[in-house]
Amino acid sequence: MVLTKELLKLKPLILGIDTSCDDTSVALLRGREVISSELSSQTELHSEFGGVVPNLAKRLHEENIQEVYNRALKDNPGMINNVDFIAVTYGPGLAIDLEVGLKFAKELSLRHSIPFVPINHMEGHMYSSLLLNSKGNGLVNDQQLINSFPALALLISGKHTEIIYIKEIGKYKKLGQTLDDAAGEAFDKVGRLLNLGYPGGPVLSEFAKRGKRGVITFTTPMLQSNSLDFSYSGIKTAALYKANELREKGVLEREWIYDFCRGFVDAIIDSVVVKLKKAIEENSDVKSVFVGGGVFNNEDLLRTVGRLTKSYDLNYYYPEIEYRSDNAAMIAIAGYVNVLQKKYLSKKEDIEKIDRDPRLSL
Ligand code: KG4
Ligand code: ZN
Repeated sequence: MVLTKELLKLKPLILGIDTSCDDTSVALLRGREVISSELSSQTELHSEFGGVVPNLAKRLHEENIQEVYNRALKDNPGMINNVDFIAVTYGPGLAIDLEVGLKFAKELSLRHSIPFVPINHMEGHMYSSLLLNSKGNGLVNDQQLINSFPALALLISGKHTEIIYIKEIGKYKKLGQTLDDAAGEAFDKVGRLLNLGYPGGPVLSEFAKRGKRGVITFTTPMLQSNSLDFSYSGIKTAALYKANELREKGVLEREWIYDFCRGFVDAIIDSVVVKLKKAIEENSDVKSVFVGGGVFNNEDLLRTVGRLTKSYDLNYYYPEIEYRSDNAAMIAIAGYVNVLQKKYLSKKEDIEKIDRDPRLSL
């Protein structure tokens, strides 16, 4: 659907909910403006197990969702009567965890007769750069947004690495995706083999900042492939061999770990740049690149992709730091985009029919 100024004048109040992984999050938006974005993080509890434990996550979502919701409504339960739409992630994600948010959202929607917007979590990451702060300021104004399409989206999270062609809002074509591990997953697995705790991504990125470039190097994944697909299981194995080799030589870990992380991060960034460049060149009609997902917390990645995008004279849309990792404000903004397209459900039987879809794809 083509966006217009008139359409963007609609500013419904949208409640967003996400329980797809290990964070329980609820947010409230007025149009694109974030009124509240609340979260209960479980990372510390899961880190003891070296990864997300779905059962534990489910229990914690159930324990916390009401409280996170109350905070998002600023402890004013009556505010729900002003909410125009409820947007909730129904996939992709962990089945039993998705279920908690979905059930909560359905009950609210039916109890208060509020239309229901089922959301693909990746569409949330895709539009996370469009969120505005409470003063209505952000990276992209309405006029820029209207002129942004066709566009590409580059989404890099814990379970996904993909490039999508956005013909216009709501019309997507997946150009490439990971054939095995996602980039975030590679960060976490390599982090684990370096004993950096869970999730490994943030620590690995910090360590890379202290390392010297080019001392320890890894082959850029999928450099020779002609497709726009990604693959990160090879670099994970290469990292394992290299770490073992260094350990066997008896080199003290603190003498190589920073350079190791630098080399790993550089190879991942390279792999992304190669594919995005190819995607831009093969799709010469695109005007903008939207990026999102937790791995963009790596500032080098964010900046390098930005430079590439600008070298092609394209708009570069990236989320503020608080909306890069999972959050519900991005689910609400995807809700907004769906509402503009009139993609929402009002009938009880239609809402009840919506089921979690752990493998949902854009
Ligand atoms: O988007 P996200 O919060 O959740 C998913 O939808 O998966 O992404 C989580 C991923 C994890 O793999 C985590 O290690 C990675 O994002 N991540 C990072 C950084 N912060 C989080 N990766 C690299 N550098 C970071 N600073
Ligand atoms: Zn995510």
